[in-house]
Amino acid sequence: MSSFDSMWSDLAPVGRDAGTGGYRRYAWTAADAALREWFRGEGEQRGLDVDTDRAGNLWAWTADPDAAAAAGQPGLVLGSHLDSVPDGGAFDGPLGVVSAFAALDLLRARGFAPRRPLGIACFADEEGARFGIACAGSRLLTGALDADRARSLTDDEGTTMAEAMAAAGHDAAGLGPDHAALRRIGTFLELHVEQGRALADPTDGDGAAVGVASSIWPHGRWRLDLRGRADHAGTTRLADREDPMLALAAAVLGARAAAERHGTVATVGKVRVRPNGVNAIPSSVTAWLDARGPREEAVRAVVADVGAAAGAAPVEESWTASTDFDAALRDRLSAALADPDGRPAPVLPTGAGHDAGVLSAAGIPTAMLFVRNPTGVSHSPAEHADPDDCSAGVEALARAVEALA
Ligand code: GLV
Ligand code: MN
Ligand code: MN
Repeated sequence: MSSFDSMWSDLAPVGRDAGTGGYRRYAWTAADAALREWFRGEGEQRGLDVDTDRAGNLWAWTADPDAAAAAGQPGLVLGSHLDSVPDGGAFDGPLGVVSAFAALDLLRARGFAPRRPLGIACFADEEGARFGIACAGSRLLTGALDADRARSLTDDEGTTMAEAMAAAGHDAAGLGPDHAALRRIGTFLELHVEQGRALADPTDGDGAAVGVASSIWPHGRWRLDLRGRADHAGTTRLADREDPMLALAAAVLGARAAAERHGTVATVGKVRVRPNGVNAIPSSVTAWLDARGPREEAVRAVVADVGAAAGAAPVEESWTASTDFDAALRDRLSAALADPDGRPAPVLPTGAGHDAGVLSAAGIPTAMLFVRNPTGVSHSPAEHADPDDCSAGVEALARAVEALA
């Protein structure tokens, strides 16, 4: 069995829901602890120094990154995340981490000696599935997420992030930008399953299994607090009702219409209804809007339109500005990954958020590789990449390291 296959089958059962077949790998839970343990084991087996930064992100280094950074040769870091959305797929995140270890194995088997330390990173809480803020680990690391705010974020049970971290053995008092960890990263390269069909499309993808990211759309999450009055479903006359579910319906339909009008996407993917009884008019509905698009003004216009449709001011919970990945790095990788006919690897934008975007915004030279996804489906148990394409991803990562390290 290849090292990729053996790591993949070790990870397969962790956090898998028997009913849906999807993954529930939320930050600072038992499943997360098992994934962290797995990462530590893989790093140590390879003789790497494994460490956790102040934000709870994991790092595995081939050589002393502090000495190298002091000598002007900060490391080349590969990696991604292991957590998932609710009932997520197997590939979003883990493909990047497993491919990073497999690429290191390949390079070592080939006798490649990097001129600077190689690091493998596993970012904490990338999806924000539990506490609502995506890329929490990389945002804390860079200072884009305030430590006090992070500590006080709550999950659906009312547990704070600080409490969840403490229960998992991580000291939340130490949260805050980790400049020592940041100084070690000379370049960050995240391989990820493609979350769209561009590579699978013969006209866009040119038959390539691996592409290079150009940019990430600006995107954000907003909360809509819709208030009403609890009452009886059978006895309250329609004219007397204050039903926040109607405002939710207007918000959902308004989001779709506004996205079409402004050339963006918009999604209401999570709602909380109180008291959530079949025969009770709700007292309140909380809904979360995710909006993204190629231009910030269009995304902002959608959010304003949804607020007007719902009759409530959307509360911004997170915002990520447009990311343009380092152009020189992107072009270098596209050329280094050219096919046998010399055609450079395709370059494509994405609407998905990534830790790579957060590091790029912090001024770190950053790039991403995407591995073809035949249907484009993601954030779903149906997410997939073919085994041959996963191998092509590992080979691409190894070639990228040869070009950059
Ligand atoms: C993360 O995958 C996101 O795009 O929200
Ligand atoms: Mn994701
Ligand atoms: Mn991801």
